[in-house]
Amino acid sequence: MLEISEDGRTWVLSGPASSYAVHVTGRDELLHLHWGPRIGLADAEALALRPLPDYWPFESPLDGREEYPVEGGPRFVRPALSVRTAGRRGTEWVFEGHDAADGELRLRFRDGGLAVTLHYRMPSSTDVVERWVTLDNRGPAVELLRADSATWTLPDRDAWRLSQLHGRWGAESRLTRSGLTHGEKVIGSRRGHTSHQHLPWVALDTDATEERGEVYGCALGWSGSWRIAVAQLPDARVQITGGAGHDDSGLLTLGTGESYTTPVFAGLWSDGGFGGASRAWHAYQRAHVIPDAGRDRPVLFNSWEATEFDISEEQQRALAERAAAMGVELFVVDDGWFGARTSDRAGLGDWTPNPDRFPGGLKPLADHVHGLGMQFGIWVEPEMVNPDSDLYRAHPDWVQYQPGRKRTEFRNQLVLNLAREDVREYLWEQLDGLLAGAPVDYVKWDFNRCFTDAGWPEDPYPQRLWVDHVHGLYALLDRLRAAHPGVAFESCSGGGGRIDLGVLSRTDQVWTSDNTDPLDRLAIQHGFSQIHPARVMAAWVTDSPNAMLNQRASSLRFRFVSAMAGVLGVGGDLTRWTREELAEAREWVALYKEIRPVVQRGDQYRLRPPEGGLSAVQYVLGDETVVLAWLQAQRYGEPVPALRLRGLDPTASYECLETGEIHRGAVLLHHGLRVALRGDLDAKVVRLKRK
Ligand code: DGJ
Repeated sequence: MLEISEDGRTWVLSGPASSYAVHVTGRDELLHLHWGPRIGLADAEALALRPLPDYWPFESPLDGREEYPVEGGPRFVRPALSVRTAGRRGTEWVFEGHDAADGELRLRFRDGGLAVTLHYRMPSSTDVVERWVTLDNRGPAVELLRADSATWTLPDRDAWRLSQLHGRWGAESRLTRSGLTHGEKVIGSRRGHTSHQHLPWVALDTDATEERGEVYGCALGWSGSWRIAVAQLPDARVQITGGAGHDDSGLLTLGTGESYTTPVFAGLWSDGGFGGASRAWHAYQRAHVIPDAGRDRPVLFNSWEATEFDISEEQQRALAERAAAMGVELFVVDDGWFGARTSDRAGLGDWTPNPDRFPGGLKPLADHVHGLGMQFGIWVEPEMVNPDSDLYRAHPDWVQYQPGRKRTEFRNQLVLNLAREDVREYLWEQLDGLLAGAPVDYVKWDFNRCFTDAGWPEDPYPQRLWVDHVHGLYALLDRLRAAHPGVAFESCSGGGGRIDLGVLSRTDQVWTSDNTDPLDRLAIQHGFSQIHPARVMAAWVTDSPNAMLNQRASSLRFRFVSAMAGVLGVGGDLTRWTREELAEAREWVALYKEIRPVVQRGDQYRLRPPEGGLSAVQYVLGDETVVLAWLQAQRYGEPVPALRLRGLDPTASYECLETGEIHRGAVLLHHGLRVALRGDLDAKVVRLKRK
């Protein structure tokens, strides 16, 4: 809902529980008024009448109060917009007016030939505010050093706390919380992709708990380099500004008639604690971001950990037969099926099946997999090339490089310059041909190295390839999805190196981490769930001991229950699993299929974090509830504490499908559910159904 004051200078956007209000002063200053619980237009107008603080000359009354601080004039905060026109620094805009249509509010400003439009949208039934900015240049060329998507202003409070998701390869999305001190905390990626090191999300609170208290969150929809800066200003205010690009060293030049649209930066206010905020983010993504989120994702098998590069059609058929017998619904051939790709040293870029390994192409295997009743998927890494490939031999200038400088090879590969139209066209032809040439239902789209030598010798402003690469990727994905609507896509980047709202709006799920150790995964998944729903979080059961990472041995039970918290997959070498293991796995897969709608579409409650002892997650959908509980290590023979459930009707009774016991809702909510767990690395699934 949008309310606008009579003079057209105050706006209030409201969702079910929250409001967001801004105001343009008579001097064309755009002030932030409110972000928090619902208010009406009269409240916003009262806020607009409050005088700005009467500061000494060493502070600016605008700082911490402006909605989108530009560079220049009486401002000392980090500018969201930084431009250079011939001989001039910064922006001095005039307010031109607003438009409101289709649930979107646009506030229009102009500085000479440069039009700056701030966009706002609250998608229906959510408290998420989507913000972005467009810049249209009708004047002489403008150099865009930085154009953030939004600056978010929090109300005056005594002490703010920052939550963030940090990590590295094999250890992504780990949650930390710490008090904010004066100055700035900057997170981001200089790597050309979203990165394993930080997810583009922050949350700010003062005293929230998992289920209570105010939480402000912001998440960026951008899959390239990015930056979010959280500033504790000299007074009690906090501002969060974020957008594409890590530094202020230049995004693009805007020639006359050119325009630029920033990615969306979404913000959410919730008073339901961290859990309530996560559920609101999940509901928003399922309803407005993730394509076709009402359709549950299938159980997949992926061959990577089983075979790595040593693959053949015969061996994939053997794996497929075992996977099908286990109840798997989608069989994915990972790396190694194409070109001369028998190791990571060659073949990337040559997207035709390796004739020694797949003499008849991929179709015979795909047909076999379909014959077994499963969908068929393949792995690709289109944005990369091995120097030892036909593609690179033919087009050594198609990669990102700087003349006279080294071409850094990480994993023996270079990054293709997707800002180039010929490169995008080549990739389109290759991928479209692949999807047309074999019955492929699913594509795992990988990205296994960061940008290092981002340069484009022929382009007068080579800096723009950082942005244009991402636009090129999005355009390719969009075009492929439109041409092959039945094909699902997974975003992977050496695990969770490219997970953000931008890529999620054009992929069906993401590969969470290359770390498939079921214990480490609990913490990774706990962090992931702060922002993203289980519906996109791919998790595989692999071999024990965990060969990829740590040699930790764990039961099939523990591995399955850990992976059942997301989109279940199996990634072990099934040719080495015993008959008993295969039979047990079949039961787990069948159980997952029963609970899948609740896990993938339900409201998620984090009952206890994975901090060493008992941890648990609960999902609620309609009358059904699923609890997944894990005991890392039982100490001193202490009994395992009861799990206080959430989201139930206290007046209802619930039947436990595992034991047949009938539980009272009020008892489960207040006194909790006892789950029989013992020893180390034990796990249980509990299903409850309202009577
Ligand atoms: C990195 C991915 O995260 C793995 O799952 C696997 O696909 C390898 N790349 C293949 O090179």
